[in-house]
Amino acid sequence: MSKSICIITGSTLGGAEYVADHLNDVLTEQGYQVELFNQAELSDIQHQTSLLVVTSTHGAGELPENIQPLFQQLTESNLDFSQMKFGVIGLGSSDYDTFCNAVNIVEEALSSLGATQVCESLRIDVVNDFDHDGSAEAWLPNFVEKL
Ligand SMILES: Cc1cc2nc3c(=O)[nH]c(=O)nc-3n(C[C@H](O)[C@H](O)[C@H](O)COP(=O)(O)O)c2cc1C
Repeated sequence: MSKSICIITGSTLGGAEYVADHLNDVLTEQGYQVELFNQAELSDIQHQTSLLVVTSTHGAGELPENIQPLFQQLTESNLDFSQMKFGVIGLGSSDYDTFCNAVNIVEEALSSLGATQVCESLRIDVVNDFDHDGSAEAWLPNFVEKL
């Protein structure tokens, strides 16, 4: 059984991209077919059945700029994503009231289009957790076992 997983990233300084790169390696080693987009467009994700979003939070609880246009488009659309299962990993800092709020934005946007969130999102607090790759890898079975 070779399942395909699409990973998209929201990142400003590359932290979330590094985590996504690591998960790409792990999943590929496990036999998954992985597509990874650091500048995802609607056409990249529209047909996907398994989507993993790895995103930091910026501004005052906002999505990073590279992923904002996509989610703006999604929010304004009435697309049907009922074929899609998704999971979310957030990187954020608990110094902010809006800790990992980008995770909430992603969850709401995809759910409102009919996609199914298969597991609780991971919120990595970069102030206390210095092994982002390890934390994400440890969370990964929660996601893949539900696909
Ligand atoms: C200007 C700025 C604003 C930030 N705002 C938030 C925020 O609102 N909530 C949060 O949880 N983290 C916030 N962070 C922390 C980042 O999400 C965190 O440093 C993350 O690791 C950055 O990952 P990236 O390199 O992939 O963008 C902010 C960081 C900066 C520099």
